[in-house]
Amino acid sequence: MAKAKTQFICQNCGTVHSRWAGKCDGCGEWNTIVEEDPMGGIGSGPGKVPKKGRTVALTALSGEIEEAPRIPTGISELDRATGGGFVRGSAVLIGGDPGIGKSTLLMQAAAALSRKGHRVIYVSGEEAVAQVRLRAQRLNAADTEVLLAAETNVEDILATISEGKRPDLVIIDSIQTLWSDTADSAPGTVTQVRTGVQAMIRFAKQTGATMVLVGHVTKDGQIAGPRVVEHMVDAVLYFEGDRGHHYRILRTVKNRFGPTDEIGVFEMSDKGLREVANPSELFLGERNEKAPGAAVFAGMEGTRPILVEVQALVAPTSLGTARRAVVGWDSARLSMILAVLEAHCGVRLGSHDVYLNIAGGYRITEPAADLAVASALVSSLAGLALPADCVYFGEVSLSGAVRTVAHTAQRLKEAEKLGFSAAVLPTASAELPKGSSGRWSEVASLPELVARIAGSKLRERQGNDDG
Ligand code: TYD
Ligand code: MG
Repeated sequence: MAKAKTQFICQNCGTVHSRWAGKCDGCGEWNTIVEEDPMGGIGSGPGKVPKKGRTVALTALSGEIEEAPRIPTGISELDRATGGGFVRGSAVLIGGDPGIGKSTLLMQAAAALSRKGHRVIYVSGEEAVAQVRLRAQRLNAADTEVLLAAETNVEDILATISEGKRPDLVIIDSIQTLWSDTADSAPGTVTQVRTGVQAMIRFAKQTGATMVLVGHVTKDGQIAGPRVVEHMVDAVLYFEGDRGHHYRILRTVKNRFGPTDEIGVFEMSDKGLREVANPSELFLGERNEKAPGAAVFAGMEGTRPILVEVQALVAPTSLGTARRAVVGWDSARLSMILAVLEAHCGVRLGSHDVYLNIAGGYRITEPAADLAVASALVSSLAGLALPADCVYFGEVSLSGAVRTVAHTAQRLKEAEKLGFSAAVLPTASAELPKGSSGRWSEVASLPELVARIAGSKLRERQGNDDG
């Protein structure tokens, strides 16, 4: 007798295993592998219907290109992240930790579009109608004509949204609650989530409605994460932020119709999310300019310059092994900077704890932050505050050289706009703004930077420590 074919699928990354294991080889997560029947579900059973394919017309690369028709929401930070508004007939995935504000953002977007006369359907699988209404009231969205349904069954949702006039926007909150009769697995598993998402994407392509799918990022792997459907959708946005802080960042990680690495910045208030048009002001808001160990980094997020404060604390260790802790930056990158400081600059940190924090719960991904981090570290170690009106940027190589980074002019322009009149940047930085009154000092190597910040003071202190 033929045995029913099941697969063991990691709920975190979707890797298929031939048998169950405690740890997934694909992503290294534990306890995420679940037995599933891959033959169930819409479009997921290739073996089921053997049919003869039909020929499709092949065409040339050159030819007419139509600009994708978009529906802008008018919430400019959201439109920036999507590349100018939601594209008709596309599917957008919005991922994020539970409680970060995805439903809030989408309710606000739904209300904005509804006010512009678009037909918007909000399908909530997590909250009851009353809860969604309550949130809508809080967001001043209750008077709009957003249509609401609390439903989780894929077939029922499709029947509902297919009825009547074609919707412009459908929001599914969230994909993890979707379940289809055609898939045998339990709700929340990879097969169910993929089946549901596939059905929703097909609806979007057929009707031209925009489909916005909410996906929770899950750590324990009990339910499938948004990762497993990232490849299926047209755009992937992640909503991130620190629960202890008010601001939230909407980050584009994939976009078939626009630029990636754009961000939208919001602030969570008691009346929902507020747009933050000038994030630098927000991130620099609570600065203590006289404290050692703080350096302002002039960074870039996509096309937009952002100034953030890098804070370092270097203190003699009280334990046998020195601690290194990083929030908001890559810890491997910190180790590299520390190693370069030790090897090329004579800054000995082996017996010091090093803590690094990016102000306000912001997360830096750019290597251009190296110079700001190094400056903050040296400043803290030497106990000398850096000039309050100075920004830092540049990449540090393993040899200790400081390399140029892109967008010098934009970084400096933003710094000047916010009242910074000095900058420490790599030598031979092209495109230095002409006719500006700023003091731009170029450094070629990390030892040069260290000498400039700490000079004799550091050598003196380290001499005392050793003796
Ligand atoms: P929510 O949108 O429900 O998060 P998600 O859908 O990502 O799980 O929002 C969660 C948090 O936001 C919740 O803890 C309450 C807070 N919040 C506000 O601070 N102000 C508001 O106006 C709203 C609607 C929510
Ligand atoms: Mg929610």
